[in-house]
Amino acid sequence: MISAKMSKAINEQINKELYSAYLYLAMSAQAEEMGLKGFAGWFKIQAGEETGHAMKFFGYVIEQGARVKLAAIEQPPAEFKSAAAMFQETLKHEKTVTASIHALADLAVAEKDHATNSFLKWFVDEQVEEEANAQEIVDLLKLAGDAGNALLFLDAKLGARKGAAE
Ligand code: FEO
Repeated sequence: MISAKMSKAINEQINKELYSAYLYLAMSAQAEEMGLKGFAGWFKIQAGEETGHAMKFFGYVIEQGARVKLAAIEQPPAEFKSAAAMFQETLKHEKTVTASIHALADLAVAEKDHATNSFLKWFVDEQVEEEANAQEIVDLLKLAGDAGNALLFLDAKLGARKGAAE
C-alpha cells in the first residue's frame, strides 16, 4: 500500500499526463489546419502515448489499493504560432513532466517506497527518450527555417511515425 501523500502525488501525475494528451491533440488539430498531415499524425500518436502513461499510473494506484481521484483537465492553448513553436512548446512541456516524474521518484526514495521507486524507473527512462525526440525535431525545424520544401520533407518524416493511434 502506498502512502496518502504518494497516492495524491500520483493522482496529480495522472492529470498531468492527460493534460499532455490534450496539449498534443490541440497541436495535432492545428497541424491539420496548416495542411501538415505528417505533423498532425505525429502529435496524434503522441497524445495516444500520453493517455497510455496516464493509464499506467491509473492501474498502479488501483493495484496498490489506493483511490483514483480524477480532477478537471486544464484547457490547452488554442493556437500556436508555427510548427517550430509547437515543438519548442513540446520540449518545454516534456521538461516539466520530467521534473514532475523526478519529484515522484524523490518522494518514493524519501518514503523508502521501493515498489513505487521501481515502478517509476520506466517513466524516468521514457522521459529521456521523450526529451531527446522533441529536441531532435526542434533542431531539424531550426535548420529548416522558413524553407517550405524543408518543412514538407520534415512533414513526410514525421508522418512515418508508427504508433498505437494508427
Ligand atoms: Fe508522459 Fe510525454 O510524458
